[in-house]
Amino acid sequence: MAPCPPFRNICFGISDMSEGKLAVIVLAAGQGTRMKSAMPKVLHPVAGRPMVAHLLATVAELRPERVVVVVGPGMEAVSAAVAPHATVVQEERLGTGHAVGCAREPLGDFDGDVLVLYGDTPLIRVETLRRLLAERRAAPHPAVVVLGFVPAGGGEYGRLVIGRAGLEAIVEHRDATPEQRATLSLCNSGVMAIDGPRLFGLVDRLRNANAKGEYYLTDIVALARGDGLLCGWVDGEEEELLGINSRAELARAEAVAQSRLREAAMEGGATLVDPATVWFTHDTRVGRDVTIHPNVVFGPRVTVGDGVVINGFCHITEAVIEDGAIIGPFARLRPGAVIGAGAHIGNFVEVKKATVEAGAKVNHLTYVGDARVGAGANVGAGTITCNYDGFGKHFTDIGPGAFVGSNTSLVAPVSVGAGAVIGAGSVITKDVAPGALAVARGAQMELPGWAERFRAKRQAAKEARRKDGEGKD
Ligand code: UD1
Ligand code: MG
Repeated sequence: MAPCPPFRNICFGISDMSEGKLAVIVLAAGQGTRMKSAMPKVLHPVAGRPMVAHLLATVAELRPERVVVVVGPGMEAVSAAVAPHATVVQEERLGTGHAVGCAREPLGDFDGDVLVLYGDTPLIRVETLRRLLAERRAAPHPAVVVLGFVPAGGGEYGRLVIGRAGLEAIVEHRDATPEQRATLSLCNSGVMAIDGPRLFGLVDRLRNANAKGEYYLTDIVALARGDGLLCGWVDGEEEELLGINSRAELARAEAVAQSRLREAAMEGGATLVDPATVWFTHDTRVGRDVTIHPNVVFGPRVTVGDGVVINGFCHITEAVIEDGAIIGPFARLRPGAVIGAGAHIGNFVEVKKATVEAGAKVNHLTYVGDARVGAGANVGAGTITCNYDGFGKHFTDIGPGAFVGSNTSLVAPVSVGAGAVIGAGSVITKDVAPGALAVARGAQMELPGWAERFRAKRQAAKEARRKDGEGKD
């Protein structure tokens, strides 16, 4: 990444000026064996995007000058996912200290603060990172600041050893004495802010004579103290430090991410009638005075305007819903659906790559794909745009104010002119002129009294068969 221009802080405003220079190392070399997956762990999605992408989005808010992701061998998919950020490969997984050492080439000359994060801990909040950095930057300028937390259920974490001068050391669970395990409740989250110019000097001196035979990053605390440097810690919350190692932990992280997204939607002025049943993607945008009824799922890239009502059991993906529209219940909006202001999409209606313009109504049992439904048009129950001929997709254009009768098949490519009326049950294969009536179905015929004559004839034949049978006995 190119170095920043000298007046970068001024460009980004006052708050940045106090923040100083920052580089970030994200450790992501772990295979994630407990996920039992062909996909590297950090690419598993939370709220619709890879967990490492969550972390990078949070980190971006701190405007770091450099970000380096440490990956394992064969993790090209991770490198591609985190681009344009740099990746370095840790050929052998020799511990967190060794992993940080792998970032020496891109960061060895960096003279700001270095933040170390884990790629499998995606829920950390930017405010927490800011507190950590503020502690590092404030007098007495500790060389290392660790984010600590007190886990509710214990856990096999490294323990923070606090002395008179602050943080003295971190003892890994496996290396801790029973007494240390019992008395040291403050644990290491793994997140650290370190004085950049000292980092690699400390990492160089790490040794692996410990229970795991690994180069522990945590040992830089004791090394720094040995050099007479101060170290510190700030407190974090367990919920945001949840590390994901298994599918069950992935589900727990999803729950946390969803509850944050629900809170944000409500904070922004949306009513969620039963928040726990509404599922968002990280990028769902919801306006004000929106009401979302229970059991609604938002896939990626959905924008919901102000005053929209989404009734229960809708599934909405890559769609735009403009102000005041009413959706569902049981509607499916697929990629490219644009629902205009005040339009109605009713039950069992599927819309794909189609614009339903302002005030139009598509209320029952309908498929609208590769189409426009003009402003104020009314599409009757059971209408189908027949957009696919087995090879390609074709467009249907329904003009403004048109009325499409129920159970109509519109065989694309076809257009219905503005204000035209289509008779119910039609199969429309030719363009319909504006203002015209088109009916394309079998003509109705009627034979007066036919039903009565038919029944009498059949009854008489049945009687004759019965008598014939009696005679034979
Ligand atoms: C680490 C900390 C521990 C802390 C805990 C919090 C050390 C020595 N211990 O322990 O104090 O309480 O996290 O969860 O740092 N990684 C690499 N390369 C490696 C080793 C690890 O990239 O060689 C990455 C992993 O992918 C993972 C992170 O570093 O994202 C942490 O590694 P992990 O093995 O889970 O460390 P813990 O033993 O849990
Ligand atoms: Mg771990």
